[in-house]
Parts: sequence; C-alpha cells; structure tokens
Amino acid sequence: MTRIAFIGTGNMSTAIIRGLLRDGRDPKGIIATAKSAESVNAAQNLGVTATDDNQWAIDHADIVVVGVKPQAVREVFAPLQLDQQMLVSLAAGLPVSLFETLCGPRAIVRSMPNTPSLVGAGATGLYANEHTSAEQRAQAEALFSASGLARWVPDESLIDAVTAASGSGVAYIFAMIEHMVAGAERLGLDAETARDLVAQTVLGAAKMTQESDESPATLRTRVTSKGGTTAQALAYFDQHGFDALVSGAMQAAYDRAQELAKS
Ligand SMILES: NC(=O)c1ccc[n+]([C@@H]2O[C@H](COP(=O)([O-])OP(=O)(O)OC[C@H]3O[C@@H](n4cnc5c(N)ncnc54)[C@H](OP(=O)(O)O)[C@@H]3O)[C@@H](O)[C@H]2O)c1
Repeated sequence: MTRIAFIGTGNMSTAIIRGLLRDGRDPKGIIATAKSAESVNAAQNLGVTATDDNQWAIDHADIVVVGVKPQAVREVFAPLQLDQQMLVSLAAGLPVSLFETLCGPRAIVRSMPNTPSLVGAGATGLYANEHTSAEQRAQAEALFSASGLARWVPDESLIDAVTAASGSGVAYIFAMIEHMVAGAERLGLDAETARDLVAQTVLGAAKMTQESDESPATLRTRVTSKGGTTAQALAYFDQHGFDALVSGAMQAAYDRAQELAKS
C-alpha cells in the first residue's frame, strides 16, 4: 500500500483526501498533519491518521504532499528530513527548484489544482521533474483524478498557463454567472430561478464540451440560428470585443503569475 502524508491539512488537502477515500483508498495509508489541535481534530474526523508531528508523518510515508500555504513552506519544510519520498506540492507559485533546495534532489511534482476539487470536480495541471519515474507520475496523478481531472504539462513554465486557464478560470466563470444572473433578474426572473437556470446552463455547456468531439466554436454555431435571439446576443459580444476581453484577462493572470514567481 502506498502511504501518503499530507503536511498541512486545510481546504485543498481535505478535498484531495475526501476524493481518495471516495475512490476506495484505505484510510490507513493516509496521514494528515496540521498545526492547531482544532485542525488536527478536523483531519481525524476524515477517518485518517492525524497528527501535528510532521516528521513522524513523513517517516511513515512514500509520498509527501505539501499542503501548507506557500508563505509557510520554507519555515515548515526546512527542519524536516526526507528519505526517498516523492514530494507533491499544492503550493501555488512555488517552483520545483525551491523544493530541490529545501529537501534535496528527488521526484517532485508541482500541481496547480482549483477550488472545484472541493466538490469532486477539480481541474489540476501537473508538472514532474526529471527524477520522477512513470510509476510516481501515475501515483501523483491518482491523487488529483480522485477529485476531478488532471493533465500533465511538459514544461514548468506552463503551470502559469494552467493558472490562467483553470486555476483563476473558476473565478472568470463565477463572474460570468454573476452577470448572467443579474441580467436575468433585470429581465424579471426571481433571484432563485435566475441562479438555478444560469448555473445549470453553465453545467450543461461544460458537459457538452467535454462529451462532444466537436470544437466549442462548432457547438456554439449549432445553437445559433441566423437572425435569432442567440445570434443577436453573440453579435453584441463581438461588437464589444468579448474575445479580446477574455484573452486579455487570461494574459493578465499569466503575467501576474510570472511576476509572483520572480518575487
Ligand atoms: N484552496 C484552493 O483553492 C487552492 C487552489 C490551488 C492551490 N492551493 C494551494 O494549496 C495549499 C493549501 O491551501 P489551503 O487553501 O488548503 O490552505 P489552508 O486551508 O489554510 O490550509 C493550510 C493548512 O496548513 C496547516 N499548517 C500550517 N502550519 C503548519 C505546520 N507548521 N505544520 C503542519 N501543518 C501546518 C494549517 O493548520 P492550522 O489550521 O492548524 O493552522 C492548515 O491546516 C496552498 O499552498 C495553496 O497555494 C489552494
């Protein structure tokens, strides 16, 4: 049995642990650490072994997941001794080289998960360094695919593109939902009906995109009759530069990720 130690068990580690348990993973193979007694207790309530002793957790694991906040990583990991364990980092913005310096050369996987992991519908980008074997890559991928979808990128700098697409992308969709709900209310629907219809529409469009072999552009064209209501709305998008707005926002997220990496 592969044993996993989560160093820091807050929102994201909890989402991953829940996914693993849902997937039938033996809770005996999972150790979760936290700092406060309250958080250790919360981790214990997941049904896994919980402790505030990070070194003990690492000594009993094959995979070590970095689940603390990025700003706490140096302080938490500097005193810890790792053996041969693979390190899987959840920490946004921290490069593989930092972990090589902190913990020595080893298999390291850097991830960029997103918040829908909390409801089992996450989208995670993964990058592995050259010390990571095919078996270790599969083990790392299994951590994330239990709470959603995981995709590898071949180059570490592409993690910033993942941030711009799916990491921050969740908020773009929330903004779209927000404005569509407000628009529907302005047109007379009550708040609850507007929210339900819009959320289901986003879900439906996403599901069709996932399940179809057609491009999103083809799917869009199929639901747009010439001279109809959808065509009118999409023409308004075009006139107001929707395409440039979305790609510009993504570029801004990407640029900010690169800037943060340098700081
Ligand atoms: N949440 C997201 O949507 C999201 C998305 C992408 C990436 N991430 C990444 O995931 C990581 C975790 O984020 P989060 O949102 O899950 O944070 P969080 O909820 O604040 O959890 C952090 C956990 O670390 C624990 N911790 C702090 N110091 C510790 C120590 N010395 N030893 C052991 N545990 C310690 C905290 O314990 P206490 O509660 O006792 O202080 C807490 O359980 C971050 O690096 C973040 O960049 C998160």
